[in-house]
Amino acid sequence: MSLDIALDSAFAAGVSERLEGIEWQLRESAFARTPFVTEAAQHIINAGGKRFRPLLVVLASQLYPPADPGQVDRAALVVELTHVASLYHDDVMDDADLRRGATSANRLYDNSIAIMIGDFLFARASSIVATLGTDYVALQAETFARLVQGQIAETRGPQGGEDPLAHYLGVVADKTGSLIATSAVFGGMVAGAGPDVLAALDAFGEEIGVVFQLSDDVIDIASEVTGKTPGTDLREGVPTLPTLMARASNDPADARLHELLAGQIEDADTVAEALELMRVHPALEQARAEISRRAAVAKEYLRPLPEGEAKQALLALCDQVVSRSS
Ligand code: IPE
Ligand code: IPE
Ligand code: MG
Ligand code: MG
Repeated sequence: MSLDIALDSAFAAGVSERLEGIEWQLRESAFARTPFVTEAAQHIINAGGKRFRPLLVVLASQLYPPADPGQVDRAALVVELTHVASLYHDDVMDDADLRRGATSANRLYDNSIAIMIGDFLFARASSIVATLGTDYVALQAETFARLVQGQIAETRGPQGGEDPLAHYLGVVADKTGSLIATSAVFGGMVAGAGPDVLAALDAFGEEIGVVFQLSDDVIDIASEVTGKTPGTDLREGVPTLPTLMARASNDPADARLHELLAGQIEDADTVAEALELMRVHPALEQARAEISRRAAVAKEYLRPLPEGEAKQALLALCDQVVSRSS
């Protein structure tokens, strides 16, 4: 994700330089013993992606300059590799066709290969995090445990009368908020931030991470150009903020939509029909309002951070996450 905000040019140049350096190191970290594994592991890395988590590491690392650039890079590699590993697994779980505009690994190879490549990249992240120290190892392990529990909870759905929306928001915090929070915290740790600022970065990262996923949910319905297949969540029957809000409405005119949202939608025409109904439903705007509200909460968490370019950039990033889906 590029930062298209007005920043001091030296600051922006420093951030870009770090992110460019991280790009080739990501590819390098995916090198394996055989060309096949290297190719399969680089497939989703090379397909692009917003690099939102590395950006957060780099921005938070600039709170108290100068941070050791080698440590910043390694912290950023750890979170992006962990993320990419989870994407290989997620596409198996969601039976996805496309990832980052490219054929997903589960389609290009098969489910077993995609799962093992995810594990391989996670192992690479583990090797790198070990060089940063045990605090980092412990946090990454805790984060990945939360992420996978979120993925499992999403797969199982609400249990024992749990409210579907509350369940969903818990899932989002775990599957997405956890790693984004850790990205911000890693940046702060590299910068030598104290406990108060680390706690603020954690709370901020978790909140903006939730906003980020909720934005992704809206994009799944509203946008035609995401590099993923629109309506993937609908097709898989995965509840999202807009569909949960639509299901909560009592308007009799929603009968057909409710019927469609009640289960998995198999054929392309029915996905298109559900998408059409969702795109004009007030729930979409309601979801956008919730996204804006939570982005404002995320900004509030940044209060304890020292003033400066890094804080300004984090604040601007909140606006950018909201504008993606508006
Ligand atoms: C996709 O993450 C999965 C979510 C947690 C929303 P991103 O939206 O960060 O995906 P890339 O890295 O840009 O492809
Ligand atoms: C992905 O969630 C979350 C993780 C990879 C942990 P989704 O399934 O909602 O994300 P996309 O839409 O496939 O990117
Ligand atoms: Mg998915
Ligand atoms: Mg998923």
